Amino acid sequence: MRRRTLLAAPLLAGTGALAACDERSAADPLEAPTAAPAARSAAVPALRALAPFPVGTEVLTSDLDSAVGELAARQFSQVTAGFEMKMEVVLRPDGSRNFGPGDRIAAWARANRQRLHGHCLVWYAQDAAAFRALEGRPREFTAAYDRYIVELMRRWPAAGWDVVNEPIDDAEGALRPSLWASVLGPEAYMVRAFQQARAADPRALLILNEYGLETKPAKRLAFLKLVERLLKLGAPITGLGTQCHIDVDLPAGAGAAMMADLARLDLPIHVSELDVSLKPRALTLRSRAATMERQAARYAELLDAFAKLPARQRYAFTVWGVRDDSSWLNSPGEYAGRDAPLLFDAQGAPKDAFWALARRLGG
Ligand code: XIL
Repeated sequence: MRRRTLLAAPLLAGTGALAACDERSAADPLEAPTAAPAARSAAVPALRALAPFPVGTEVLTSDLDSAVGELAARQFSQVTAGFEMKMEVVLRPDGSRNFGPGDRIAAWARANRQRLHGHCLVWYAQDAAAFRALEGRPREFTAAYDRYIVELMRRWPAAGWDVVNEPIDDAEGALRPSLWASVLGPEAYMVRAFQQARAADPRALLILNEYGLETKPAKRLAFLKLVERLLKLGAPITGLGTQCHIDVDLPAGAGAAMMADLARLDLPIHVSELDVSLKPRALTLRSRAATMERQAARYAELLDAFAKLPARQRYAFTVWGVRDDSSWLNSPGEYAGRDAPLLFDAQGAPKDAFWALARRLGG
């Protein structure tokens, strides 16, 4: 579960402060000057109004009635639950369901006229006691698996669902072992999940979602081959999700190359979890201003690559969170408040990266 790490204000800079930062050589986000708390929002355009495709973000129920929620509603036209539609929350050890948090997010999105994106049904990283208890009883296991998928998709009708999340290993591009693979078969679990998903909702886009596709060419190839193989095996995959958890050191061109490769399958694409880490633990001689410019350039490259896709292939462009202080990368154990990977700073002020996107979208 993501724990909210609230940065003691004013640790991060706003746009005005970032401009001022040009004169500074501080590479450490913690040394950034205070943002002027002036109300800039009047002049800040809404990405959701500018973009000709859905722009999404990730939210938690704890965001909804806060300034983060307000910003999310104003800026974004699509919403993904950070973890509250995942098995860790939905499935209790006795097999009963906990739909409350997901229901709140779905209702909130509706109230804000936002599309819902479902995340996620089957993930190697999350099995559950209720399923482990059925491991030796494959028929019951299979029935419970089918039921789980159908129930979630009907409970939360969404434009699309990540039906299978992160199936491929980082190293060799092999399929990841999981409870699902061991009971149902390494590819059969995916084929079955997609077929159940299609039966549950004939309209939702059914997505295979993966990360590291821009940094690991072998993994990218394995991903594309897997999609082809699963399609041949009868899995109704109708969309590709590329998470895009990247960092400022991603070489220019890597994001665009990834997008071009994925586009060849001619399926709709979801940039599904974009954030651009500053890698606060890495040594760098770059100034903070240069780092933020580079971050903006990484965001811009991906947006350009996405915007160039034919309209039928642009499912959505989603960033993984709203404000730097609520990013998952600032959870305890990660950068604990030192990273600044998103479009808005800890005070909700738009950063260079936001303006880079807004400008490209004509704002
Ligand atoms: C992360 C969430 O943001 C956190 O709140 C949670 O603690 C862990 O998961 N790939 C995914 C997402 O598909 O579900 C992950 O989200 C980030 C990596």
